[in-house]
Order: sequence, then structure tokens, then C-alpha cells
Amino acid sequence: MDQLLSLVICTLLLLKAAEGVTVPMELGVPITYLQSAVANGAVCLDGSPPAYHFDKGFEGGIDNWILHFEGGAWCNNATNCLARADTNRGSSKKMETTLIFSGIFSNNKTFNPDFYNWNRIMVRYCDGSSFTGDVEAVDPATNLHYRGGRIFVAVIEDLLAKGMKNAKNAILSGCSAGGLTTILHCDRFKTLLPSATKVKCVSDAGYFINVKTISGSPYIEQFYNQVVQTHGSAKNLPSSCTSRLSPGLCFFPENVAADITTPIFFVNAAYDSWQIRNILVPDVADPNGTWTNCKRDIIKCSPNQLTTIQGFRTDFLKAISVINNCPSKGAFIDSCYSHCQTGGQETWMSNDSPLVANTTIAKAVGDWYFERRTFHQIDCPYPCNPTCHNS
Ligand SMILES: *[C@@H]1O[C@H](CO)[C@@H](O)[C@H](O)[C@H]1NC(C)=O
Ligand SMILES: *[C@@H]1O[C@H](CO)[C@@H](O)[C@H](O)[C@H]1NC(C)=O
Ligand SMILES: *[C@@H]1O[C@H](CO)[C@@H](O)[C@H](O)[C@H]1NC(C)=O
Ligand SMILES: *[C@@H]1O[C@H](CO)[C@@H](O)[C@H](O)[C@H]1NC(C)=O
Repeated sequence: MDQLLSLVICTLLLLKAAEGVTVPMELGVPITYLQSAVANGAVCLDGSPPAYHFDKGFEGGIDNWILHFEGGAWCNNATNCLARADTNRGSSKKMETTLIFSGIFSNNKTFNPDFYNWNRIMVRYCDGSSFTGDVEAVDPATNLHYRGGRIFVAVIEDLLAKGMKNAKNAILSGCSAGGLTTILHCDRFKTLLPSATKVKCVSDAGYFINVKTISGSPYIEQFYNQVVQTHGSAKNLPSSCTSRLSPGLCFFPENVAADITTPIFFVNAAYDSWQIRNILVPDVADPNGTWTNCKRDIIKCSPNQLTTIQGFRTDFLKAISVINNCPSKGAFIDSCYSHCQTGGQETWMSNDSPLVANTTIAKAVGDWYFERRTFHQIDCPYPCNPTCHNS
């Protein structure tokens, strides 16, 4: 899907270029395999080394670091993890060797004014547990390694040795399952960095909520429970949550967000398209395919379906209200039907990127990080916002 997305983005960029609109030069960043992590058992599902893409900081940004964790859902049992182990989300042997950096990763001041000269790292997702897993035993039948939590630590230790130990500023970020990594590991990231570093976290599309499907089944709750059990994640989830709730519930941001002490910013669509397609209306909850067209394109939803989707927004706003009244926590909650908005130029910052309170995501995140102002904005309900890029 990501490849398709970049193809679409590239096509759009070409089209815009043809119209004479200013577009960034494509920045391709090569992969680095973290071979040294293998000795610590910090490996992908198939046992291959973890990997990241690293574009070095320059000029005033050499001591600033943004560490971003890639997304790609989760695997909840051996069957699904085995299938994943044979893909780019489970093995570094299958990963693309170059990624295009844009949006929050762009190295061009025009397109990324606050972070363009930072050290920018995209960590590849190959464990299927939002980097929380840690099972010592390797299943001899499948050779599956559940070690995402070890990858998280190994990558940070490697980057500390490569200069992050001198960081003045640092951001932990991620999108989708990586946005969840950001939420679950934000305080841990802070403790792994030098105490003098100004550490903050930016979660993009990582606020997955615990709601039942349209047929009334607790699908995502059961699914997360299986993820946490399969990967042995409990010990890597915030103890402020696991001390009072079952570990599966501590995979939900709504149960951990209030206790995060490190400043954190949430970029999320109130109508997150992945959540509507996979949490509210997973295929099992819609055996007759009544929702297929609506899930694909929100314009095709019937009035009844829109009512259900507005109900999802209400649930989303309630789930994220646990962060209200906390100035160190920021939020940009737009009314778009989309998923992941910081890593693409057209949603991060462009002439027609999504605005809430007349502000782009790039401006909101930059203003909040540098404390030029607080930012906590909830958009009006769909379809009120004409700047949305609906998926
Ligand atoms: C940034 O992008 C603009 C527009 O594409 C281009 O004119 C400029 O040269 C770029 N700057 C750098 C440093 O690459
Ligand atoms: C694994 O999980 C999937 C998705 O929830 C489910 O369809 C499948 O039956 C499970 N397989 C096993 C062996 O439990
Ligand atoms: C699916 O369609 C069948 C046959 O029309 C119907 O009996 C059934 O109730 C429908 N199921 C759902 C969940 O709508
Ligand atoms: C929105 O922001 C732009 C650019 O910052 C500014 O020119 C414009 O006046 C603002 N519009 C409103 C309605 O505040």
C-alpha cells in the first residue's frame, strides 16, 4: 500500500511540476542494516537484522534528531506473523533499499521549515507488535522471533553512539502502528536520552480507539489482546497502565495517554480511514459488503452510514479527551478521512494541505515543539473542512 501511495504521490508531484507549481526535489535515502543488533537478539520476525534510513543533519540541525517509526498494522498470532515474516514488514531481506523522504522528513527548508536540517531517521517496521514484543524463545517450527521491543532499544543505542548522545533536541515520532509505538514508548524514549536533551513525541495516526464493530463485536480489543499475548508485550507497556488494567487494554492510547509525562503531540483524523475500515467495519463485520464503497470513498456513504461514522468521531473525541487540560500535550484533530499526514508533503505542508484553525500540520507541530504557542485543536465535523485530502 505504501508503494502504491508513493506512486500516487510521485504522479501528483509530476503533474504539479508540469503545471509549474513549486515541488521539492525527490530525496532518496538508502537503507542501513543494523547487523550489530543481531547478537542481542534484536531482530525482525524472520531473524534478519533490523534496518533504518538515515539522512544526516546539517548546519544548525546537527544536534537535533527526529526518530520516526514506520507503521503497518500488527500480527496477532503465529499464522499471521509467519505470513508477515515473508514480507517487507517482517524481514529486512524484503525491504525496499531506498525510501523517499518528504513532509516532516524533507531536507528542504521551504517544505519543512522547522526540521529540515535535523538528523532524520525512519526505522523500518518488521516485528508486527509496534516495537513492544520480547519473547526469548524462538519457535523451532516457524523460526519466528517476537523481538520488537529489543529493536526499539537497539536502534536508540546505535544512534546514541552515532551522535544522538549529544542531542540538544529530539523527537520520537511514527505513523499508524509507529504512531502507537510513539505513544507507548514516549516516556521510555525520554529515559534513554541524555537528561539535558529536550525530548518530545509526535504521534501520527496512532490513536487507535477501543470501540465495537458495527455488528457489536469487541473485535479490536480481542485482536490487541492476541497481539500482546503472542509477542510477550506486557513488560514493555507502560506500568502505570498494566498495574491496573489487563495488558491487552494497555495497547490502547486512551488507557495510557493521560499518564505520559513527556510532552506529546497527536496528529490524527477524527475519521481515521484505517480505523473505520479495520476497527469499526472490518470485513468480518460486513459479510455482505454493504460498506465496501463507503469504506473506499466517504462520499459514497449512505446517510445511515454517515450517522454511524459520526458516532465513531464522537467516540474518538471522547477517547482522546483524556489529554485535555494538559498544556504539554498538543493535538491536531482534523475532520478528514485519512490516515498518516506528516510523512507526505501534500498533507504536511503545501498550498492546499489540510488546515485546522487556519494552520498546517507542519506549523502546528513546529509551533508546539519550539513552544511558540500551545496547539490543541479539534476540527468541526465532516464535511465542514474543504482543505481535507480524503483517502
Ligand atoms: C528547495 O526547493 C526549492 C523548490 O523546489 C528549490 O528551488 C530549492 O533549490 C530547494 N533548496 C534546496 C536547498 O535544495
Ligand atoms: C489468527 O488470527 C486471524 C485474524 O484474527 C484469524 O482469522 C485466524 O483464525 C487466527 N489463526 C489462528 C491459528 O488462531
Ligand atoms: C446478508 O444478506 C443476507 C441475504 O440477503 C441476509 O439474510 C443477511 O441478514 C445479511 N447480513 C447482514 C449482516 O446484513
Ligand atoms: C490564515 O493564514 C494565512 C497565512 O498565515 C493568512 O494570510 C490569513 O489571513 C489567515 N486567515 C484567517 C481567516 O485568519
